[in-house]
Amino acid sequence: MQEKFNVIKQEAQEAIRKVSSLAELEEARVRFLGRKSKLASLSATFSGLEPSQRPEAGRLFNEVKVFIAGILEEKKKTFSFSKERIDITFPSKKTDTATKHPLSSVVRTMCHIFEAIGFEIQEGAEIEDEWYNFQALNIPLEHPSRDAFDTFYLDLPAQGKYKYLLRSHTSPSQIRLMKKRKPPLAFVVPGRVYRPDNVDASHSFMFHQVEGFAVDRDITFAHLKGTLLYFAKHMFLDEAKLRFRPHFFPFTEPSAEVDISCIICRGKGCSVCKRTGWLEILGCGMIHPNVLKACGIDSKKYQGFAFGMGVERIAMLKYGINDIRLFFENDLRFLRQFYEV
Ligand code: PHE
Repeated sequence: MQEKFNVIKQEAQEAIRKVSSLAELEEARVRFLGRKSKLASLSATFSGLEPSQRPEAGRLFNEVKVFIAGILEEKKKTFSFSKERIDITFPSKKTDTATKHPLSSVVRTMCHIFEAIGFEIQEGAEIEDEWYNFQALNIPLEHPSRDAFDTFYLDLPAQGKYKYLLRSHTSPSQIRLMKKRKPPLAFVVPGRVYRPDNVDASHSFMFHQVEGFAVDRDITFAHLKGTLLYFAKHMFLDEAKLRFRPHFFPFTEPSAEVDISCIICRGKGCSVCKRTGWLEILGCGMIHPNVLKACGIDSKKYQGFAFGMGVERIAMLKYGINDIRLFFENDLRFLRQFYEV
């Protein structure tokens, strides 16, 4: 009996030593400890033994069983160890890291340029009421120029007679800041604006603007020109020139639209500037006295200038992008070209 147990023990030991996978290990377990194993058939013969020999047979049986289970367990550990081991030389899986959207980078660059000459960066509110968006900016509710700015009204209970809406320009943030702070003031306010425009290559119902304004005792149009020229040179080209065309905005007087000498052909005339050598980049002017008054600022003592520009337009010119929709479609092939950490 002892001899037979020893043979089984040795066979198991040898076979399990040669095992080279978890699957083979499982086969070995069935072969040596399973119901059809030699060990099992040997135990079936115990009933034929003399009653006095049975306890010893049982003890041997258990000893061998525990021994085999032990070496199976030991062997198993060698596999799970190699499975969990980290191979630090293995090429890693590529992960996508988020980066700044091109519009965010452009806004940030624009803000830095103005911050460097003393403008403070602030954010306004995307939901305004008609007083901030129109009335305080010298746009009477019945004024026809409201049409171009008319926007999305909100289903919120109106405050007094003024309904809530999504702002159609960043100019209402001038009002908020002028009401809150005393001159001298110099602010730049970036943000989203909304207009009921149909979407095409150069229009979107939502886009971004950067508003800028300064109010003090002796602010003149010359300050406005100097500020915008400084901006154009830093944003685009050092040799950039500006052209001021008279224009109308209810909230500035006098008002102008500003063109920059084409940054693609440098003023010679190309398809981007439609052979004119100029590209329109913004609207601006001297803050209308009615606007100062609406904010409680004495228009006899103080003057100010204001400007507003479209961020998408600036970004399209800077990077030679010909379709505004590209900014909002989340196509990674487009966005990856502006990879910036
Ligand atoms: N708010 C004007 C617009 O959206 C731009 C502007 C801002 C013009 C400030 C003059 C002064 O078109």
